[in-house]
Amino acid sequence: MTARAGFAAAATPSGLKFHPGYLDRTRQEGLLAELLQIFAAAPLFTPRMPRSGRPFTVRMSNCGPLGWVSDESGYRYQPTHPVTGRPWPPMPAMLVAAWHDLAPDYPAPPEACLINFYGAGTKMGLHQDRDEEDFAAPVASLSLGDACLFRVGGHKRNDPTRSVRLSSGDAIVLGGDARLAFHGVDRIEPGTSTLLPEGGRINLTMRRVTRPAGGLLPPPALSGTSMP
Ligand code: SIN
Ligand code: FE2
Repeated sequence: MTARAGFAAAATPSGLKFHPGYLDRTRQEGLLAELLQIFAAAPLFTPRMPRSGRPFTVRMSNCGPLGWVSDESGYRYQPTHPVTGRPWPPMPAMLVAAWHDLAPDYPAPPEACLINFYGAGTKMGLHQDRDEEDFAAPVASLSLGDACLFRVGGHKRNDPTRSVRLSSGDAIVLGGDARLAFHGVDRIEPGTSTLLPEGGRINLTMRRVTRPAGGLLPPPALSGTSMP
């Protein structure tokens, strides 16, 4: 059984939505062309762990009004690139459209799109996305290039996890009862996509960082069941 089938068969929190093949090849190529322009203006940088300063294996950039960065001072969102000091490039219209399509119940636009680049042999440890003010907004993720083994669990680090293989063009949304689920990337599967000429994987996560003005949102709908 493939990881994908196993994932679909497992009881999943209602806020975890997997959309295999969300972007077709033409749209993947269009998005990649936009990303190459973003990297020219906001080059991939190597984030560092808070306190220890240990470098991540994944390199990052961002687009949108805010970008996520990490260094010895901690994790945070900021309006400028940590190396060039320049504002992040605008978020491409197709990403904003994808956000509204993937998060139809959330009324405000995304403010940050974190762009992760995973070369062969890189990974991302289990973590929660909790540097945002507004957990009512989901985190919407798009994958390009080589497939990866994505792991998602519960609200506690030691909760049981399940794995899903994310391929080029797939989307996955962590919202509602899955918004604060621990998640990470166990490994990249080199040679599984022809989209990136040099190989590797790009993941884009669109996020709302601040609460929309006017506090217009009710609390997120919870399924009433706890994460497995
Ligand atoms: C992340 O959690 O920031 C990235 C997840 C992924 O690469 O799929
Ligand atoms: Fe994350």
